[in-house]
Amino acid sequence: MLEQLKDLHTQALEELNKVENPRELELWRIRHLGKKGSLTKVLRSLAALPLEERRKKGAQANEIKKSLESSLEEKEKSLQEPLFTSPMHPQGLDVTLPGRPIPAGRLHPTTQILNEICDIFRNMGFQVVEGPDVEWDYYNFEALNIPQHHPARDMFATMWIDTGMGGKARLLRTHTSPMQIRLMEKERPPIRTIVPGRIYRYEATDSTHESIFYQVEGLAVDKGITMGDLKGTLFDFCHCLFGEERKVRFRCDYFPFVEPGVEVAIGCSACQGAGCRLCSHSGWLEILGAGMVHPDVLARVNIDPKIYSGFAFGLGVERIAMLRYGIDHIRLFYSNDLRFLKQF
Ligand code: FA5
Repeated sequence: MLEQLKDLHTQALEELNKVENPRELELWRIRHLGKKGSLTKVLRSLAALPLEERRKKGAQANEIKKSLESSLEEKEKSLQEPLFTSPMHPQGLDVTLPGRPIPAGRLHPTTQILNEICDIFRNMGFQVVEGPDVEWDYYNFEALNIPQHHPARDMFATMWIDTGMGGKARLLRTHTSPMQIRLMEKERPPIRTIVPGRIYRYEATDSTHESIFYQVEGLAVDKGITMGDLKGTLFDFCHCLFGEERKVRFRCDYFPFVEPGVEVAIGCSACQGAGCRLCSHSGWLEILGAGMVHPDVLARVNIDPKIYSGFAFGLGVERIAMLRYGIDHIRLFYSNDLRFLKQF
């Protein structure tokens, strides 16, 4: 009988281990500890034994009963414990609660408009390349017909890195135009390339001027390129970005590295041309400088100006974003105010 009790105990514990829910536990209890359960049957059969043997085996059977009852209690507790516990959720995780929304990031308005600008020119057949922010004096000025002491250097208040002599000095590029030279040094016509990038100027800021901002340079060099190509390309670009109805103004301007030079302005979106702070009460906002690549610049990179001609432009990305989104102060772009940035 002692063997029988031991087997019964082991088997009951094995079965208890496999129990996974309260319903199975109740069935286990009835099977082993219930009125007609296996242990109760053994206990009842003790009555037929002689007194001495009954005492001995009865004590053993009671011990097994107690052990099974306490195992039952433990199992009951463990089944009540929440399934998903962790140090962060000692009370358990309620998986039925609605999830917390994860704040989604988005592209900065400058990046958005840069992507749009690049897409428009890509569709026209331009390739996109980037250039260095730290530039040699030679590329930023000298090769662009702006030698030392040329008054045009005043157009670009420069942040110098070191002031080595002449073309050996280094600076933070004051425009993306140095890439015109780098491109033409490496490639032969036909060239159709745009260069997006950040530029740096040591100048006072106001509603339309930042000291660090973005430009997109454009360069097309081939046989027979004319001012008509420049005008057509820039008008198409402005209409793609601002719609066919938007007013575009084309005027003469001066840049030493183009001849003739022009500037393009767009009708102010904030005041519809009536005059406001954004357009300095002129009704127009200048977005780019452009022109036909100067023959001396072509000759400097060994492209024969008698055979080839080209146009170039440099547009202000934040100015375009201001007109596009009706933003009236350029400082908003980089002041990291999330209330502003979240609108884009
Ligand atoms: C230039 O930087 C010439 N490199 C453009 C060029 C390229 C001319 C190729 C001819 C051929 P400018 O300094 O005007 O030009 O700047 C070009 C554009 O950048 C301006 O039309 C304006 O849209 C923008 N811009 C100029 N200064 C600032 C500034 N401080 N803050 C924000 N945008 C500016």
